Amino acid sequence: MNPGQFRTAGWLKFLCAVVGLTSTAAGAETIVVYGASGRVGAVVVEEALQRGHDVIGVSRNPGSLAIEAPNFSAVQGDVTSLESMLEIVAGVDAVVITVRGIGPGNTPEEAVTSIAAETFVEAAGVLGEDAPRVIQVGGGTTLRVDGAYGFDNPGIEPGTAQHANAFGHWRAIETYGAADGLQWAVLTPPPGGMSPASPGERTGEYRLGGEDVLYDAAGSSAITMADFAVAVVDEVERAQSLNRRAAVGPPE
Ligand SMILES: NC(=O)c1ccc[n+]([C@@H]2O[C@H](COP(=O)([O-])OP(=O)(O)OC[C@H]3O[C@@H](n4cnc5c(N)ncnc54)[C@H](OP(=O)(O)O)[C@@H]3O)[C@@H](O)[C@H]2O)c1
Repeated sequence: MNPGQFRTAGWLKFLCAVVGLTSTAAGAETIVVYGASGRVGAVVVEEALQRGHDVIGVSRNPGSLAIEAPNFSAVQGDVTSLESMLEIVAGVDAVVITVRGIGPGNTPEEAVTSIAAETFVEAAGVLGEDAPRVIQVGGGTTLRVDGAYGFDNPGIEPGTAQHANAFGHWRAIETYGAADGLQWAVLTPPPGGMSPASPGERTGEYRLGGEDVLYDAAGSSAITMADFAVAVVDEVERAQSLNRRAAVGPPE
């Protein structure tokens, strides 16, 4: 971590406040991405770098982040460790959390998505009004189809990895929702509607909703990872879904 980077970001924010500009209007945001080595995180990092933001990619093994860009830096960190998170997120503009993992007991409480949200809320409590905004990537089974949440499917049984993943995501939403004075969003892609094989085409188009899976006129809920990443970085820049969970889907 380069402390000078944070001093620069802080000065920029101060100058923007003095002249009445948001930091986006004046230039780049400094964004921390947890999960930068993952499928979704890598595409979010690329989208943010393309837009000229300064990106700090976090990994438990930062040597795996072979991203060559002047506005990218890699740091070692664990999203479940308060001490580590405080060192990394203090002074930045926004934190994106797009992580995956479950514990040995396959419980939602052990899911890294759930612990990440708890850790962020704790970190924000320490940082107070200087806490950055957080945007966490959600899981499609927490969305509704025809009024029923995906995780209510009887096939998702307690004690299974699927259950831990689904309810880990749900616990993250509840954790942010219950926190005071936090600026957060959980952006949720459609269940099974985002091919993990490749980023796909970037059209720049997507739609934001609430609790329900979104469909286009042809009845498809699919969205490419590249367009999902556009939604995430738009959220960093514009806070379109402040303090709520939003489904991300294809345009109508
Ligand atoms: N892929 C999809 O199609 C899809 C669809 C809908 C929703 N999602 C959601 O999007 C999120 C990311 O999915 P993905 O497919 O991109 O996952 P992935 O490719 O399996 O990557 C998982 C990421 O989590 C990070 N991670 C895990 N534990 C961590 C910890 N303790 N500290 C820091 N980082 C940690 C890993 O980083 P290191 O190993 O480098 O530390 C890795 O970058 C998940 O929550 C998933 O449910 C994905």
